[in-house]
Amino acid sequence: MDLVEMTLDVMKYTIDRISNVTPELGAPKKEEELFELVGETVTPKGIGGEVAFKMFKDILVKATVPIDHPRHLAFVPAAPSRAAIMFDLVTAASSIHGAYWMEGAGGIFCENQAMKWLVSLTGLPKGSFGVFTSGGTAANLSALVTARETWRSRNTENKNLKSLLLTSNGAHSSVQAMAKVMDADVAIIDCPDENLQGYALQTAISELKEEDRKRLFAVVATGGTTNAGIIDELDTIADVCEKEDLWLHVDCAYGGGALAAPSVRHLFNGIERADSITIDPHKWLFSPYDCGAVIYKNIELAKEAHSQKGSYLEIFKDEGAEGFNPADYQIQLTRRVRGMPLWFSLAMHGTDKYRESIERGIELAQIAGKKIESRENLELVRPPSLSVVLFRRKGWSPSEYRDWTYKNHKEGLALVTPTKWRKGDDYETISRFCFINPETTEEDIDIILDSME
Ligand SMILES: Cc1ncc(COP(=O)(O)O)c(C=O)c1O
Repeated sequence: MDLVEMTLDVMKYTIDRISNVTPELGAPKKEEELFELVGETVTPKGIGGEVAFKMFKDILVKATVPIDHPRHLAFVPAAPSRAAIMFDLVTAASSIHGAYWMEGAGGIFCENQAMKWLVSLTGLPKGSFGVFTSGGTAANLSALVTARETWRSRNTENKNLKSLLLTSNGAHSSVQAMAKVMDADVAIIDCPDENLQGYALQTAISELKEEDRKRLFAVVATGGTTNAGIIDELDTIADVCEKEDLWLHVDCAYGGGALAAPSVRHLFNGIERADSITIDPHKWLFSPYDCGAVIYKNIELAKEAHSQKGSYLEIFKDEGAEGFNPADYQIQLTRRVRGMPLWFSLAMHGTDKYRESIERGIELAQIAGKKIESRENLELVRPPSLSVVLFRRKGWSPSEYRDWTYKNHKEGLALVTPTKWRKGDDYETISRFCFINPETTEEDIDIILDSME
């Protein structure tokens, strides 16, 4: 009975939550404050599901920010579809081990259906394929480990070299963080507009010392920078990578959803020449956390880099159990079939609905840009790009942007955070919108802009 009641409670909460389009914009509390409110929750006898769940509903969830709030326009927000959220529950309830086909075939089949669509958006040649990861960071790491293994296996001398990768100042922080994990060096090409182009890449390569050129194994370009939504000039970058025989990884963790949007698809031209690509369905493809994806032009190279060996794993590779084994293509072994919610939502709604919802994010950025231009105290820092808008409140200092962020958050109005953009030799603090949720309205934008008066 307890279990039935608990299930009904959970379903009621879930249905209420996903049908609420403007959930309370929660704010953090200090850990001591939360502890004072709920006390010790893990005890030898347990506090009971009802009590624990009530604590979560009444206190703890209110100390979190719902990332799908229509006026949460900070960082890269998210707006998981209701279908995907419901199927996330089904994914958990089904207890599927997503590492190997032998145990996870039906779930991995669903993931692969969704992956097939993702791969088709990239235009990569036949034979390209990918796998779902815990996010963009893990996807970038998986791709770069594959790139380095490939580089090392091509020339035994490379095994003794500390590897080096080239990227730009527009690249996401995870590229440098993952290079640290791999013990690889990173050289940053400083691009004035955070937009890497082939000529700048060629210049940077020619300026490398001979010993550094030997260590260079990959270039990381960005398909939608986190800060400004800028897409590197992928075609000219691919020209240079082909000429210099370098692995090209394109990080589209944020921007990847826009590959499905005809209005901006041309900006990604050249992506079909990449060796690997990161796309995060938990950003602009309406999947619940966490769900990233890494796609390879030659997925066999990923298998050589990542496939784990152990006597206890041999059965998975046996002919009788053979099938697509996601564990072979990225850094994780045991894994949730985290592409299943995306699959269900795609299967239910169809890809046209995805295209429309992504186009709406781009349209909202254009609408916000026009509204900003029409107000006397606001101005655009640069034209909106993908779904990102950078703008300034004339006359505001960095602390005024910060105070405004906190005030709106505290009042439950909106979460919009400041960022920085280059101004001459220095950096200026400005404001930034990133649209994902197609249910954000024009009125939501007005409410936020009004609060800057
Ligand atoms: C371009 C880009 N790459 C990588 C990441 C890291 O992705 P994740 O947070 O899913 O690990 C982000 C996150 O915002 C991103 O915008």
